[in-house]
Amino acid sequence: MKKFSRAVLCGFLGAGLALASCAPASSGASGSSGGSGSGSPDAPYTSGDPESDTLVVYFSWSGNTREMAEYIAEATGGDLFEIVPEDEYTAADLRWTDENSRVVQEYEAKQAGTLEDVALRDTTADGWEEYDTVFIGYPIWWYDAAWPVNTFVKANDFTGKTVYTFCTSSSSGLGNSTRNLADMAGSGDWRDGSRFSSGASESAVVAWLEEAGLIA
Ligand SMILES: Cc1cc2nc3c(=O)[nH]c(=O)nc-3n(C[C@H](O)[C@H](O)[C@H](O)COP(=O)(O)O)c2cc1C
Repeated sequence: MKKFSRAVLCGFLGAGLALASCAPASSGASGSSGGSGSGSPDAPYTSGDPESDTLVVYFSWSGNTREMAEYIAEATGGDLFEIVPEDEYTAADLRWTDENSRVVQEYEAKQAGTLEDVALRDTTADGWEEYDTVFIGYPIWWYDAAWPVNTFVKANDFTGKTVYTFCTSSSSGLGNSTRNLADMAGSGDWRDGSRFSSGASESAVVAWLEEAGLIA
């Protein structure tokens, strides 16, 4: 095992990351494909409420972040946009203890500064210009935002928008993920939102939105 994998593995275990947390949740995960179950080729990416000024963008593989995104959309009346990689991650792709897996190879490339942006099915949310408030949610991968989110962030102009990040993880916080994404975007007023544990309740999400003054 390379030095890298051992260090990473120890880091995760130290952080309390259980293998089970990497397993796809029941929501839509099937066969060898990942948890982006709602992102089937025919599924609409936006829920299409033209009255809303809030958009909730998220990437989720095993469904935890999707659940939080849905709670936020419900509480704020926002629309949903799911980030779906063109080449969706399989369970084998996300085996972070396997140094030959896609995610470990990508992580190594990220650390080396050579990671290419993950191509997405769609980087354009209908009515993007109309949204004032954008929530962006992702799982934490190695203490940072899961990188499929980067492609969406780089592809869109956040000028005039307030952006709240949120994440799910086994134990890590948002870390520098908000700052890193803000730098990639180069525009917008980016703010640290909240980290939720996998399977956090709707009331925890609503409590955060109320505390942050984002809903009355
Ligand atoms: C490749 C990979 C790396 C991860 N890295 C971390 C980490 O650094 N810290 C942490 O607390 N959890 C880590 N996790 C756990 C996920 O952040 C957590 O299970 C998350 O809720 C998954 O979200 P999802 O269901 O929306 O995909 C990692 C999971 C995977 C698959």
